[in-house]
Amino acid sequence: MVETSKESLSIQDLGLIYQTSAGPIEALRGVSLDVRDGEFISIIGPSGCGKSSLLKLVLGLQDATRGEIRIAGVPVKGPSRNAGGVFQSPVLLPWRTILENVLLPVDVMKIDRKTAMDRANELLKLVGLGGFETRYPFELSGGMQQRAAIVRALVHDPRLLIMDEPFAALDALTREQLSAEVQRLWLESGKTIVFITHSINEAVFLSDRIIVMSARPGRIVAEYKNPFPRPRTFADMGSPELASLMIDIRESLDRASAT
Ligand SMILES: Nc1ncnc2c1ncn2[C@@H]1O[C@H](COP(=O)(O)OP(=O)(O)O)[C@@H](O)[C@H]1O
Ligand SMILES: [Mg+2]
Repeated sequence: MVETSKESLSIQDLGLIYQTSAGPIEALRGVSLDVRDGEFISIIGPSGCGKSSLLKLVLGLQDATRGEIRIAGVPVKGPSRNAGGVFQSPVLLPWRTILENVLLPVDVMKIDRKTAMDRANELLKLVGLGGFETRYPFELSGGMQQRAAIVRALVHDPRLLIMDEPFAALDALTREQLSAEVQRLWLESGKTIVFITHSINEAVFLSDRIIVMSARPGRIVAEYKNPFPRPRTFADMGSPELASLMIDIRESLDRASAT
């Protein structure tokens, strides 16, 4: 089928140098990556290797030093309606209710409120937050706040969802629950997801493809495919295929961290 080769995200020879008072810091070098429409990929790499920088570039929140990023064929010049981001901490506004927080992009992007409201309510139910619309962030657990942040990133119906270590601040059990929910959300929505994580386990559980980045300057050093059928369960993680995939990625990550 021709459609399956359609690219949702295309990154060409991306380079990023931060100019700081202490001199230039080369964060990314020669990063090229194509992500298929509807694909789930994870990016894994040592701390400080430029993962968050890469995502900020893709979200149009900062400019690259060189190279090009296209989302659905359109060069990224600034924040795009075709992409949504979820970050390490949910950054909800404390004075807004959950529903108002989720609808934030609607005001910024001038989307039809009625359509967005229906979508928000449907997504809140999908992530188990039905009934919490009028609550305030402080009334919700960390996991529930991060669920709300995921809904906010999807409220304008972007094709591409980018998640930067979204579970990093959560406890192990909540991480597992949210991983399972992200899998379900992905299966039901058909979105393209780029997921950044420190956890090999999470990357393997969720992804079609796992990309390993080197220490700074961040480059792509390895790529692993994971054709294991879905829906996957945590019990599947003990299967020989997935266990051996995790060992391979671990070794690759150790090499990447040492360079
Ligand atoms: N705004 C900035 N100004 C200067 N250096 C930065 C800035 N943001 C990140 N860096 C540096 O760029 C490198 C990559 O950072 P980051 O993208 O946050 O990595 P990661 O998310 O993989 O941990 C780090 O060395 C970091 O200190
Ligand atoms: Mg980061």
